[in-house]
Amino acid sequence: MDVAHFDVKAFLADTSIPLPQKIEHFYQVIEEAKRQKLYLFFRTTTSASTNHIEAVTLETGQRMDMVIMASNNYLGLTTHPEVVAKAKAAIDKWGVGMAGPGTLNGNTLLHQEFEARLAKFKHCEAAMLFPSGYSANIGVLTALLSKGDWFIGDELNHASLIDGARFSRAQRLVCKHSDMADLERCLKEVQGKPGQKLVAIDGVYSMDGEIAPLRPIVDLCKKYGAILLVDDAHGTGAVGKFGRGSLEYCGVEGEVEIVMGTFSKAFGCYGGFIAGSRQLIAWLRHFARPGMFTAAVAPMTVAACMGSLDVIETHPELVAKLHENTRIVRERLLGMNYELGGADAPIVPIFIRNRDKAYAIVKEAYERGLFISLIEFPAVAPGTERIRLTLMATHTSKDIEFAMTMLHELGRKYGVIP
Ligand SMILES: Cc1ncc(COP(=O)(O)O)c(C=O)c1O
Repeated sequence: MDVAHFDVKAFLADTSIPLPQKIEHFYQVIEEAKRQKLYLFFRTTTSASTNHIEAVTLETGQRMDMVIMASNNYLGLTTHPEVVAKAKAAIDKWGVGMAGPGTLNGNTLLHQEFEARLAKFKHCEAAMLFPSGYSANIGVLTALLSKGDWFIGDELNHASLIDGARFSRAQRLVCKHSDMADLERCLKEVQGKPGQKLVAIDGVYSMDGEIAPLRPIVDLCKKYGAILLVDDAHGTGAVGKFGRGSLEYCGVEGEVEIVMGTFSKAFGCYGGFIAGSRQLIAWLRHFARPGMFTAAVAPMTVAACMGSLDVIETHPELVAKLHENTRIVRERLLGMNYELGGADAPIVPIFIRNRDKAYAIVKEAYERGLFISLIEFPAVAPGTERIRLTLMATHTSKDIEFAMTMLHELGRKYGVIP
């Protein structure tokens, strides 16, 4: 079976195969890929993820210490002593969970204190916690939009915005990526029509590393009376001089009605939030189903996230180091003639545009101790395969040297760079 060239897109689109057979066939493809040691997803890791990680190699099955540039732990907070200590203290005080939603029994003083801190951090009046960033986007979009309303999104939006728009049943318009003329075309198209208009975009595009041009987007939304939602999952804690995110970077803090963020990236934890006006948050508390019909975020997680926020607010040098590491890596890769996406965010996409080559580089790097990510369909369009590096403030110059030497060697070996 040629699993290396299995066409998932065509396979999924083929409606002639009954579902049970389809599932069985897919299972066989995955098992065969594993047998051929070609399966690069769900790699087994055996340690905490800092700038290094211990992981199990595919060829020998041995555990190996690796440099990791595939984690969104941008500031190294997953293992930061202050953050870990706060989580431990919260377990002692609160136990390990709330066993119920905020609406009923899960709304502790700790949750309230953290929501107030987040609102301030995001220059908004109020904030609400969600179990994840994904559910925050589903929650806000389904609570605000329904049939007869209008959703306008960027073509490269994250899956959670796409799914939230679908679940809301609003009519959807997709504008070309960060193309202001096309966004205005969409806004004009819905102008004067009945229904709420909402524009939703990523503040930082997770697969492309680009920061959205928020200034003109805010202005266009104001001009056409549309609500703006910015998904700042990757910006929060990582972008802007003080890590307040893409809104800080673009100078539009306090001008965006809905700001979404997650704790699964720079905060190093888990969970998500929506920040906005007091009225909006009151509405979400009562109508955002993924926040209502689910247990409240565990206090240990809230405490850890608050610890992360403390570190972010008191250690701007960590954010500066992250930016410095990103700048160094980008310069080195451009010097090797790699084609890069993005600019100022700590996500560095290396466009390979050939699945076999991207695969070969990621696999060999992994076997030799560099843990990086292969990005392919369905995360990105076929033909735009890339390797994605994510930088951390805790990467040392030795880590960077190791990774750059490896990528130089492998890029040449597989004919990607001269
Ligand atoms: C842009 C964007 N939005 C939302 C999410 C979802 O965040 P979470 O991991 O908290 O569910 C992600 C995570 O991959 C993301 O990249």
